[in-house]
Amino acid sequence: PEFISVANLAIALGLKIDVFVSQLEELGFEDVGKDNILTGETAALVAQEYGFEPKVDMGEDEDLRPAPVPEDPTSLPLRPPVVTIMGHVDHGKTTLLDYLRKSSIVSQEHGGITQHIGAFSVQLSSGQQITFLDTPGHAAFLSMRQRGANVTDMVILVVAADDSVMPQTLEALKHARAARVPFIVAINKIDRPEANINHVKSDLAKHGVELEDFGGDVQVVCVSGKTGQGMEDLEENILLLAEMLDIRADPGGMAEGWVLESTIKPIGRVATVLVKRGTLRPGDYVVAGRVQAKIRSLRNEAGVEIDEAGPGMPVEVLGWKEPPEAGDMVLQAPDEGRAKAAVRYRQELKERGDVIGQMEQIEKDRRERE
Ligand code: GTP
Ligand code: MG
Repeated sequence: PEFISVANLAIALGLKIDVFVSQLEELGFEDVGKDNILTGETAALVAQEYGFEPKVDMGEDEDLRPAPVPEDPTSLPLRPPVVTIMGHVDHGKTTLLDYLRKSSIVSQEHGGITQHIGAFSVQLSSGQQITFLDTPGHAAFLSMRQRGANVTDMVILVVAADDSVMPQTLEALKHARAARVPFIVAINKIDRPEANINHVKSDLAKHGVELEDFGGDVQVVCVSGKTGQGMEDLEENILLLAEMLDIRADPGGMAEGWVLESTIKPIGRVATVLVKRGTLRPGDYVVAGRVQAKIRSLRNEAGVEIDEAGPGMPVEVLGWKEPPEAGDMVLQAPDEGRAKAAVRYRQELKERGDVIGQMEQIEKDRRERE
């Protein structure tokens, strides 16, 4: 993108500098002087006010873009499925994950309520991996979906057998349907004496869930996060669905992913990134939104430093210049120059948006006055 000083723009437009400056002020620019630098886009908008039709080279090629979807994805290796656990509050999402991960997140959580999107991958005895996302809110998912991204391959809809379908169960159902993501129902807490599995099933059917028991294709698994009953079935069902979905990704090429979460820890700015394709390694340059990072280190969900993170892996990325935003796409840049150029370009785009908004407002005000 080009830049031009007010003085040079005045020369280009054939105007006297002090006349031009006062006209810029009339246009609504505040505190302009001859040495002010305008972006190419701002200069173009000003030039249009003087009846010119300027051409601006916005350096289209300076941005980073995701790689095109390969023509024949069946030749790519399989990647771990990404599974999101959703359901009503207290129905046992974290307990189920906790069982799967065989640690005790529930006990570490303040008041037992999930504070953040947790992401981790489980290695099964078969060697297969499943990546789980535990999400109390849907903000980051909504933001990603607005950009056409389904971070998750499937949803596990957790319904407590002693509480049945509740408002957030329906919310989760709505999200899964809107995102066209297949889901598996996990009826949890079946160890409880008040558990009523059939009640849950008929409630779900009432809300249009076509359960396999009733001839539909939505799988149902009865589990207890407390006793572990049915948990192997749940894993099997996940792998079965994953096999049907045939989830593949290229571990080579420039990496791509999504920011699931962004926080500041004593160790620095940390973003949890879900890698969708390619492989991230320390030393790589990445851009998320208008923020870049030279990856200082990568850590898994246990806080252990790792050398690389490939498709389907959630990973903590350290080394950001500014905190990236949850829901932003992460793209690897081949080198620092390209990362910087992309950030600069995106900044320009934003400013251009701002300036256009400003110009439109000025124009509107003027029309109102006339
Ligand atoms: P939020 O993150 O707050 O939405 O809740 P959650 O869905 O993650 O529920 P959580 O795992 O924190 O469980 C809520 C309560 O239910 C806790 O007291 C758990 O011990 C209990 N619980 C979860 N699963 C089971 C189960 O299978 N059986 C029994 N008896 N209790 C369970
Ligand atoms: Mg929870």
